[in-house]
Amino acid sequence: CFAHVQQAPEDPILGITVAFNKDPSPVKVNLGVGAYRTEDGKPLLLNVVRQAELHLVSDESRNKEYLGITGIVHFNKLSAQLILGSDSPAIAENRVVTAQCLSGTGSLRVGGEFLGRHYSGQKIIYVPSPTWGNHLKIFPLAGLEARTYRYYDPRTKGLDYEGMLEDLRAAPNGSILLLHACAHNPTGVDPSQEQWEGIRRVVREEKQFLPFFDCAYQGFASGSLDNDAWAVRRFVGDGGEVFVAQSYAKNMGLYAERVGALSIIVKEPAVATRVESQLKLVIRPMYSTPPTHGASIVTLILSSKKWFEEWKEELKAMADRIRSMRHELFNALKERQTPGNWEHILNQIGMFTFTGLSKEQVEYMRREDHIYMTLDGRISMAGLNSRTVPQVADAIHRAVVK
Ligand code: LMR
Repeated sequence: CFAHVQQAPEDPILGITVAFNKDPSPVKVNLGVGAYRTEDGKPLLLNVVRQAELHLVSDESRNKEYLGITGIVHFNKLSAQLILGSDSPAIAENRVVTAQCLSGTGSLRVGGEFLGRHYSGQKIIYVPSPTWGNHLKIFPLAGLEARTYRYYDPRTKGLDYEGMLEDLRAAPNGSILLLHACAHNPTGVDPSQEQWEGIRRVVREEKQFLPFFDCAYQGFASGSLDNDAWAVRRFVGDGGEVFVAQSYAKNMGLYAERVGALSIIVKEPAVATRVESQLKLVIRPMYSTPPTHGASIVTLILSSKKWFEEWKEELKAMADRIRSMRHELFNALKERQTPGNWEHILNQIGMFTFTGLSKEQVEYMRREDHIYMTLDGRISMAGLNSRTVPQVADAIHRAVVK
């Protein structure tokens, strides 16, 4: 019955790690997946996470009973406060429904499934071009048609603001609009606050879109959790409906624990109650209830003033190290007089630089220099360190001048 099954290609992002692991070269460098590495090139377990885990295992009152369908109630409240602000009127007015989900992907999928069933507007979701590749797979499976809007301008290596607004204005009223809350993946290009306001006016006043924020990098763009939530808070602050998917993979380094949250902000508390009841019907047949360990870690950290402060310091240290890698790589390319303008390495923000390297150049670097990145030329700055910067700069230089 299965002889017809075709070999599927590897995932464009996670498959890079598969190829990297198979490469026997001692000098190989993985700049593919967006996962933080220390200056020694090692994954980082945050000290505050370790502390919270030690606390969890020594707490004899804990058990492994099922959670409710929407997860840990306290985790949900703290997650909503983290993204919306602890003084958020929407929270105070009971207009926010939050469900603990399986990291960013799970939150997007649950949100997509809910929209596929219950959204009364257009079941079309507009995502930026380019966007995180998984967006284009998640939403159609949830019953939404995915279309793209212009976002990145390869000439300026910045935002195509005019093109974006033009595409949004041409889209059917009442569509869903996927926005990256901060540190856009893969481009590292975010709208300015003024541009966000322009987008918000089109969303609210002209098109009645439903904004769906993907927030995978809170704390990584500016180094401040509050600043990185600015756009989401503006959209929630105008009283309209908003969906937000949060992930703790990057900012707490909880990649494998799959911890995230979906928040749905509506206009009336009575609607929130009914939305929550339907959200449970979406989740129950998918995975019944979420796992407890990772969300318990997050709950402990967010609810302890001391650990929360420690977390912010560790998060800032990660963001700062990434920023210093931007300077080192930029300077290394300048020293080598590599043709081209590399200012965008400094200007783009978050974990990634969208280098502008072509698919051929990316493939050349993988073949000749054992340097791995996604085929669109995105490099994870978090994968670089002072030892590998010269090696990567040499390889970029060779790929560009060849
Ligand atoms: C990435 O874009 O590299 C990360 O979000 C990891 C992933 O799941 O793709």
